[in-house]
Amino acid sequence: MSRKDQIDITKLPKHIAIIMDGNGRWAKGFGKFRIFGHYNGVKAVKTTVEAAAEIGLKYITLYAFSTENWNRPQKEVDDLMELLIDTIKKETPTLQKNNIRLKSIGNISDLPAKCQLQLQETIDATKDNDGLTMVLALSYSAKWDIINAIKNIATQVKNNELAISDIDDIVIDKHLSTNGIPNPDLMIRTSGEHRISNFLLWELAYAEFYFTPKLWPDFKEEDLYDAIIDFQQRERRFGKTSEQLITN
Ligand code: IPE
Ligand code: IPE
Ligand code: MG
Repeated sequence: MSRKDQIDITKLPKHIAIIMDGNGRWAKGFGKFRIFGHYNGVKAVKTTVEAAAEIGLKYITLYAFSTENWNRPQKEVDDLMELLIDTIKKETPTLQKNNIRLKSIGNISDLPAKCQLQLQETIDATKDNDGLTMVLALSYSAKWDIINAIKNIATQVKNNELAISDIDDIVIDKHLSTNGIPNPDLMIRTSGEHRISNFLLWELAYAEFYFTPKLWPDFKEEDLYDAIIDFQQRERRFGKTSEQLITN
């Protein structure tokens, strides 16, 4: 039985979030510049997103550029922004063909103007697609998002639009840039690093984590299937006991 056939499509995670890591090390392994890794990372994005759409996944979030990544050498940042613009432009017809809707989270106003325009154009063009929603995390960090949410909530309290006693997880969800997107049930990180790097700190509260030593450009359909199969074998207890889950 192929890996794909081992997936129980009635029990798919609703949302997979991926920290796509290892492009630089992958390029280094070939004696090439880091950007070579990023180019090949785009190919892995295409493969993964198309495989996710094909099996019927509803949401995928890809960590493409973090707030902290602005601190990389300027040349790498510029190359990444160029690559982002080119890729979104080039892939828009494929998104349409595959019924994929594009969304973004993060401090988009920090991106170069050209990048913002292309992003918005593709978001608008794909907004009615109702297959997979692909969320690109760009200039994103969870702390940035949480700080913004706190500022907005505090402003509402100050203006007497919200009582402190009414602040709950629903109110906080509503003020995050992930508002309206279900929390990820599965988080994948490639490249062998076992850390969260400021990604979706709030939203991953009950996600299952899957780590693979594979570098992102080597990530293939089968790797996505493996992560889903692994996820489907886990018992998600949400604080309860195993016995409670069986009797319910
Ligand atoms: C992930 O690969 C892509 C981005 C963070 C933009 P890296 O560029 O972090 O590659 P490594 O981790 O240095 O190998
Ligand atoms: C996390 O990767 C961010 C993205 C994949 C965009 P990094 O390579 O920036 O993470 P750290 O710095 O090694 O934790
Ligand atoms: Mg990295």
